Amino acid sequence: MSAHHEEMTKTTPMQVVMASVGGLVAPLIAIFLIIQLVLGIQATHVNTETDEASSAAVAGRIKPVGEVKVVDANAPRVEKNGEEVFNAVCTSCHTSGALGAPKFSNKGDWSARIGRGLDGLVKTAIEGIRAMPARGGAPDLSDIEMQRAVAYMANSAGAKFEAK
Ligand code: HEC
Repeated sequence: MSAHHEEMTKTTPMQVVMASVGGLVAPLIAIFLIIQLVLGIQATHVNTETDEASSAAVAGRIKPVGEVKVVDANAPRVEKNGEEVFNAVCTSCHTSGALGAPKFSNKGDWSARIGRGLDGLVKTAIEGIRAMPARGGAPDLSDIEMQRAVAYMANSAGAKFEAK
């Protein structure tokens, strides 16, 4: 029994060599692989960008999802005069009389309307009336620009309204 056991557990010199080689080499291979891994990670992070480019890239990565476009609210808005507004917007209907619009400089089309006064006309022009869209379809026109355009049109047909 004991002899048999000794036979089974006897270690040959070759096994000793193999065991020590394995015991030394395996950790070395592991260390080598870890070093390779670290070097590989570093290589992908090499900073080849300039400072400016990298801060731009960082800014791009951390920028909020929704972006607010800053418009200078204090920038003076240059109000167009009546003629400019008319030529930009109103002329498309009011020169030809399209959709039944009172024509520019046509007294017959305007006399009854002029009788109602400037303020009333400006109000309907701002709000829109029947086939005429609000502000002639140009919502960015200011009230002052609308007032000037109405005065310009009505004055062309005989009114003596004062534009703001
Ligand atoms: C898409 C065509 C169209 C455009 C553009 C348009 N208008 Fe008119 N406008 C009309 C029509 C149509 C009428 C007649 C509405 C009615 O009395 O039935 C009218 C009527 C008016 C009247 C008379 C309102 C009233 O109370 O009788 C004024 C004032 C007027 N427009 C001003 C303007 C001004 C100012 C502009 C430009 C900023 C403009 N319109 C652009 C179609 C237009």
